[in-house]
Amino acid sequence: MVDDINYEEFENLQAVSELLKICSLVDKSSSIIDHIRSFSKKSGFFMKSIDLNKAILNTKSLIGQQLKKNNIEINFELRKNIPKIYGDNISIEQLIVNMILNSKDAIIEKQQENPDLDGNIRISTSHTNGMIKMVIQDNGIGIPDVIKEKIFLKGYKEIKGKKGMGLGLSLVTKIIELYNGKIWVEDRVNGNYTQGSNFIFLIPEEI
Ligand SMILES: Nc1ncnc2c1ncn2[C@@H]1O[C@H](COP(=O)(O)OP(=O)(O)OP(=O)(O)O)[C@@H](O)[C@H]1O
Ligand SMILES: [Mg+2]
Repeated sequence: MVDDINYEEFENLQAVSELLKICSLVDKSSSIIDHIRSFSKKSGFFMKSIDLNKAILNTKSLIGQQLKKNNIEINFELRKNIPKIYGDNISIEQLIVNMILNSKDAIIEKQQENPDLDGNIRISTSHTNGMIKMVIQDNGIGIPDVIKEKIFLKGYKEIKGKKGMGLGLSLVTKIIELYNGKIWVEDRVNGNYTQGSNFIFLIPEEI
């Protein structure tokens, strides 16, 4: 269409700019679809040396649009030059996507009571004592103490509006166990109580 357009007419120029925008979005969509395809084809793990920061940033193209639509901002505070971990790219991305989607649901739930709430998700990484630490924070509805242990069980779900099956966190736990890592949830960061939830991951650095 861009090739066929008559550039002499002024209105057509606007159309060209829209068409070019569409082209670039189509390119973006195909790369996302390719990514999703390799995601769903997955069978078995392919363990190798991977860059956790890179995997975190990769997930943004998968769900960034969904977050934007719900007025949720995602920020990254990724420590540069952290050691690699020994893992599998697809499974680590699945883990991160599951966590972000849970945060999104928790924020949407909170927005039901407070429609003006700007959602915020923050993912940070750091490195101490041979372990990589990843913290995923959100300002969603939060998790009451009494259910903190239960949420990791297969089939458990608390948020009523959710269409999910309660499987995400049990999958996340399985993946993290495979990595010899740990996951837990806290309602405070550096001793300060926060509104939503903070999921903490420790993953051993690659030896
Ligand atoms: N960031 C969060 N904030 C508040 N509650 C959470 C958060 N993450 C998980 N939960 C609670 O833990 C429950 C279990 O999460 P899980 O990911 O296993 O299942 P789900 O999201 O309900 O369904 P699925 O992941 O299968 O779509 C959720 O239903 C929710 O009650
Ligand atoms: Mg989930």
